[in-house]
Amino acid sequence: MITKKAKRMLALLDRATTLWHIPVVGRDKGRVIRGLIERHECTRGIEIGSLLGYSAILIASAMPPRGRLVCIEANEFLGWLTQANTREAGLGPKVKVVTGDALRVLPLVSGRFDFAFIDAAKPDYLDYLRQLEPKLLPGAVVVADNTGASFRREVKPYLDYVRDPAGRYTSREYDFDDDAMEVSVRR
Ligand SMILES: C[S@@+](CC[C@H](N)C(=O)[O-])C[C@H]1O[C@@H](n2cnc3c(N)ncnc32)[C@H](O)[C@@H]1O
Repeated sequence: MITKKAKRMLALLDRATTLWHIPVVGRDKGRVIRGLIERHECTRGIEIGSLLGYSAILIASAMPPRGRLVCIEANEFLGWLTQANTREAGLGPKVKVVTGDALRVLPLVSGRFDFAFIDAAKPDYLDYLRQLEPKLLPGAVVVADNTGASFRREVKPYLDYVRDPAGRYTSREYDFDDDAMEVSVRR
C-alpha cells in the first residue's frame, strides 16, 4: 500500500512534470507498473535512468517495506535529486542511487533482481539488458519504457531480442495512445 507521503510526492511531481513537459513515465504507465510489482510480488528492483526520481518513487512505494530499489542515473545532479526526492517521499531506506553510466556501473552492482525498469538511452536498451541478465532471477519482470512509435527504430534490437519465441523472455507490449511499454518476464 502506498504511503500518504509517497502519494503526496508523486502528486507534486505529476503537476511539475506536466507543467514543464518533463519526460517521466507518468500516471497511466505507472498504474501498470505498480500492478506488475504487486502481482509478481517483486522486492528487489533496479532502475536505469531516474531523472527526478518519479519512477523510483512509484516502484519503491509499490514494494513491501522490505523491498529495495537500486537506481542508476548518469547525471550527478539528477542522481542527487532522485535520492533527495525519494527521501522526501519517505522511501530513503528502500532506495539506493548509484551515479554513473549504466553500461559502466551495471557490472559493479551486486545482488540479484526480480524487477527492472529500463528508461535511459534508447539505442542502449539491449546492452543494458544483456548486462543485467546474469543478475535477473527466474520470473523477473523487465519493463522497458518508450518502445512506441517515436523510438521504435532505436529500440528495435531490444524488442527483437525479448520477443524471440526461442529466447529467454515471455514478452508483451502495453499501448498508451502515442507510446508503448514492453513488459518481459524472464523464463
Ligand atoms: C526519460 S529519463 C528517465 C525518467 C524516469 N525513469 C521517470 O520516469 O521518472 C532518462 C534518464 O536517463 C538518464 N540516462 C541517460 N543515459 C544514461 C546512462 N547511460 N546511464 C544512466 N542513466 C542514463 C538521463 O540522465 C535521464 O535522467
